[in-house]
Amino acid sequence: MRKSILALFLVAGLWGWSPILAQSQPPAAQPKQAKAAQSESTPIEAAGHQWWQHAVFYEIYPRSFADSNNDGIGDLPGITSKLDYLKQLGVDAIWITPCYPSPQVDFGYDVSDYEDIDPIYGTLSDFDKLQQDGQQRGIRIIMDLVLNHTSDQHQWFIDSRSSRNSRHRDWYIWRDGKTSPASANAASGTPKQLQPPNNWISLFGGSAWQYDPKTKQYYYHFFFPQQPDLNWRNPAVREAMFDVTRWWYDRGVSGFRLDAVGALFEDPSLHDNPILPGKNAYGDPNMENKYNFNLPEVHDVLKGLRKIADRYDAVLIGETATNNIDQLEQFYGRHNDELQMPMDFLFTDIDKLSPPAFRKQIAAVNATGGWPVYVIGNHDIERSYTRYGDGKHNDAIAKVMAGLYLTLRGTPIMYYGEEIGIEQNDPKSKAAVKDPIGKLGWPYEKGRDGERTPMQWTDKVNAGFSKIRPWLPVSDNYRTHNVASEQKDPNSILRFYEELLALRHTNQALLDGDYVALNENDPNVMSYLRRYKDEAVLVVLNMSAEPQKASFNLLPQGFSAQEAKTLLTTMPEMKDRAGVSAMTLAPFSVYIGEIAGPATHN
Ligand code: NOJ
Ligand code: CA
Repeated sequence: MRKSILALFLVAGLWGWSPILAQSQPPAAQPKQAKAAQSESTPIEAAGHQWWQHAVFYEIYPRSFADSNNDGIGDLPGITSKLDYLKQLGVDAIWITPCYPSPQVDFGYDVSDYEDIDPIYGTLSDFDKLQQDGQQRGIRIIMDLVLNHTSDQHQWFIDSRSSRNSRHRDWYIWRDGKTSPASANAASGTPKQLQPPNNWISLFGGSAWQYDPKTKQYYYHFFFPQQPDLNWRNPAVREAMFDVTRWWYDRGVSGFRLDAVGALFEDPSLHDNPILPGKNAYGDPNMENKYNFNLPEVHDVLKGLRKIADRYDAVLIGETATNNIDQLEQFYGRHNDELQMPMDFLFTDIDKLSPPAFRKQIAAVNATGGWPVYVIGNHDIERSYTRYGDGKHNDAIAKVMAGLYLTLRGTPIMYYGEEIGIEQNDPKSKAAVKDPIGKLGWPYEKGRDGERTPMQWTDKVNAGFSKIRPWLPVSDNYRTHNVASEQKDPNSILRFYEELLALRHTNQALLDGDYVALNENDPNVMSYLRRYKDEAVLVVLNMSAEPQKASFNLLPQGFSAQEAKTLLTTMPEMKDRAGVSAMTLAPFSVYIGEIAGPATHN
């Protein structure tokens, strides 16, 4: 099963390929979901926390969310038209993947102008309207900032490649090629005799160096050749990008998700990377990205970006690919002066329902002292519904995963469609592939189209996304898994998300409580307390396909109560209360309950 694209940022070749799980069966009948005991009160104000620590973030891939003008591609007015839906769901901030002008080689991650909107998505006025309408509903906008590279159609690069003396030449990474001994003897001057400056390969296949005949040098690209890497050792690049952030903050955005931060710097001496055994999906040698990823210089850039962000009370979210928890810890900054929200992909990469693996990673990220950021899906990773699903209990499993990461201490970032159970829909043939990495790596790498399919609004044609055929086919499960149908069904994944997010916004222990792991040797049932002063919430998740028993003695945690008052559960028999000393848990079930007052008061 395909893991995060990020695994490759670290060690090319450790990215595993195996067939996608068999298509899921129709969902098995689920027990009626008990209604959350929610308070109608207004959301609790941050108790010493920043706004982003209490917020629920939601990633939108704009091509695929809602198409307002029926050209088959989603757009900004489409997002604006769905703000009420997002509000009702419980979303506080939306991160929109790049919607700047772009040739769309990498669907927006190849930016040709950082201070405008691509016409396929609308105009700056459409952006302002989205921003204002969002503000009225308390929904903030987070932009995606592609720092590592631009499009080859950006004016900076067009100028850079025009001559060796151009103003922007040193904004990108240009080097002479190597001349092999054999070619040195041959007729000189033809590009064929040159070798790239070193052995680095692109994450997206082939050499990371592209020869440019006009000026007879190579430029470096960690991603596609149409995405030349900026030279972050040039102070002018730094200033230009810092200005871009000011420009958007002044327009009202509340922060940025920083793309591929680990890729910003390369070893200036261009040492060859160590080669590993085997080949990747593109036929390139596997390689450890030792000299071109996660170099220490990135931290200085992040400190600079953070200083500006702080002036605007803005948040910086990082696409932080890390090998281990120490690397992740560094992204918070020694003095908490870098990223407020580096995503923990070590958590995301646990793709089995494994309580021991989740416990270990949660403990590790908590131990960093940084505020955890949890993600279970995004536009580069196989859909969570399919990745965690077993093909039989996928709806129940989707609720278990929500029950986990939306009740942990930290900030969650949802991926659009996760809340209705959109399933993976990989292209059926090479000809159908849109993502260039799928064309290049087929059939081993099918690309990322499967996790980017249109949002499923209704069970009608094109899932209500567009009146014409969408740019990608909708997932096969849209007839059962769509917003309109799930809003009507009290047992749906969507209703579970709504109730869970409402609870998260109003329960102080879930917002601010510490995390105390319980029954840590249980291989099937994941359980913990969220404890805030005299209050505690007990979360119990049966991650197995069998019924399980669980027993809790909460005295050591300061709670003598033998019963919990139910806040939300998938088990109807526990809809009001549950005895905690002997619980019987249905397969793939969720129990969330309040534990009354501390032992000393009982
Ligand atoms: C990471 C993004 O999430 C991915 O979609 C993109 O292709 C690369 N960075 C390059 O910008
Ligand atoms: Ca459109």
